[in-house]
Amino acid sequence: MPNPSHEDRLTRAVELAREAGSLLRSGLGNVEAVEHKGAIDLVTEFDLQSERLLVEGLRRSFPEDPILAEEGGGAAGDHRWLIDPLDGTTNFAHGLPVFCISMAYVEAGAIQLGVVYDPMRSELFQALRGQGASLNGKPIHVSREARLDRSLLVTGFPYDIRTADETNLDHFSRLSLRAQAVRRLGSAALDLAYVAAGRFDGYWELRLSPWDWGAGILLVREAGGKVTRLEGDADIFRPPTSIVASNGLIHEAMLRVLEGN
Ligand code: IPD
Ligand code: CA
Ligand code: CA
Repeated sequence: MPNPSHEDRLTRAVELAREAGSLLRSGLGNVEAVEHKGAIDLVTEFDLQSERLLVEGLRRSFPEDPILAEEGGGAAGDHRWLIDPLDGTTNFAHGLPVFCISMAYVEAGAIQLGVVYDPMRSELFQALRGQGASLNGKPIHVSREARLDRSLLVTGFPYDIRTADETNLDHFSRLSLRAQAVRRLGSAALDLAYVAAGRFDGYWELRLSPWDWGAGILLVREAGGKVTRLEGDADIFRPPTSIVASNGLIHEAMLRVLEGN
């Protein structure tokens, strides 16, 4: 397609996410090949098949677009697709139906579009920069909860939790004592989509990769929320990426607790 617009890209990303979603839906409970990328970091044949479908589809439609995909690697820089073909692999490998596909397109250093698709609930979250976020075609907004002690939060833990100095367990226990409750779903992209949809009031996590958060942070911002690093600045692209995403109203309170106060 010559000179595709971001709308063209979004339309195609949605089609491909739905196709990959059907593949993953049929694969749930039928995983045969689980390999370890690290001590607890898994990859299944469905991560690889989903990635092949997405990457080949994008290459056919937009041959000029650079792509970074989790399993195969790829392009660096501030112009590329960010693809997580199966976010929530540990859940998927155990037959737990909480996972999604995450696709984002970055140009000129800004996330232009994002798609998060949950094939088990047929929930399609999408956002186009400057044009809001939606779930199955209906606009979504972050929650209006302003009190941390009434907020439902979500987080995740890095795969190097057994060896790293920063495990997130300290943050988890501090925020568990200050929020209404803290959940751990196992899919960073869904966590962020749920903040955008107002289901969670806030989310934080350490050491994420661009394919985990590319689509999700655009969803949160376009749904009226706020996204920063744990240090409080908004330079998400500077690795290692830690993320605090919220409805905006509880953001400062979350950052203070994360700092140890
Ligand atoms: C993981 C999930 C998990 C998060 C990890 C991610 P994967 O992605 O998003 O919730 O805690 O940090 O790596 O491996 O399932 O694509
Ligand atoms: Ca991921
Ligand atoms: Ca993945």
